[in-house]
Amino acid sequence: MDSINQSASGQSRSKDITKKRQNARFNEKFEGKLKEFFVEELKDIYFAEGEILKGLDKMEAAAISESLKESIRYHHSETEEQIERLKEVFELVGEEPSKKKCEAILGILKEGETMLEDTEEGSMVRDVAIIIACQKVEHYEIATYGSLAELARTLGLDEAADILEETLEEEKSTDVGLTELAVESVNEQAKEEGEESGNGGGSPFDPVEEQINDYNPASEHGDYREGDSDSEYPMHTGEELDEDFDEELDEDFDEELDEDFDEELDEEFDEELDEEEDDEAYK
Ligand SMILES: [Fe+2]
Ligand SMILES: [Fe+2]
Repeated sequence: MDSINQSASGQSRSKDITKKRQNARFNEKFEGKLKEFFVEELKDIYFAEGEILKGLDKMEAAAISESLKESIRYHHSETEEQIERLKEVFELVGEEPSKKKCEAILGILKEGETMLEDTEEGSMVRDVAIIIACQKVEHYEIATYGSLAELARTLGLDEAADILEETLEEEKSTDVGLTELAVESVNEQAKEEGEESGNGGGSPFDPVEEQINDYNPASEHGDYREGDSDSEYPMHTGEELDEDFDEELDEDFDEELDEDFDEELDEEFDEELDEEEDDEAYK
């Protein structure tokens, strides 16, 4: 029995030593520039998660299919927990939770809103757009949490790393779930919707076509006046734009050819002149 007790107390001593070593490693490594950088990145994702919550609300309201709405609602509640976890990480590093404006997430969310504007309300194409927009957000989060978890390990912050990895796994499975939703139902339904409306599989409202038709080179010159059919720069269709562009290229090419030809003629003329002059000199 004695030998068992000795072995047990030996184990607990060695655990204490390991813990002390870990603490020493933490104190040594957790000071300095890397710590500062880690905390800055924490503030960045803490801000981002708050914005994502608002974004998820908008996406859920705009979604048509119940399965997509449900998936967004579920991730909304996960995101609320993730924010709480970030507060724990702040506490573990002895910092008050604070936010730093994250331009990247604001850009990704803004793009998501534009995608909503570019798709017809109540259409499955909009659900496709919502899935893509949400996946862009998830990929940003996966990159951030993956890097932060590794950084926490490097800093000897294993507890913080575990917390960050828990969130990382949620972001990954949200991304996978969205892909499944797209592949198993939403994409196909959006395609059928397009076929039913008789335009060969596209959306009843085609944002790409719309953008091409909206594009007017004259507006870049500030010369185009809307509704002015006699304007020097009338509205162009996509096809006309292509034709115009081809014509412009042809013209450029012809001009270049002409220039080359002129240069050649000049050179020939100069050479002839030189020869004549030489001949004259010999006479
Ligand atoms: Fe998140
Ligand atoms: Fe997320």
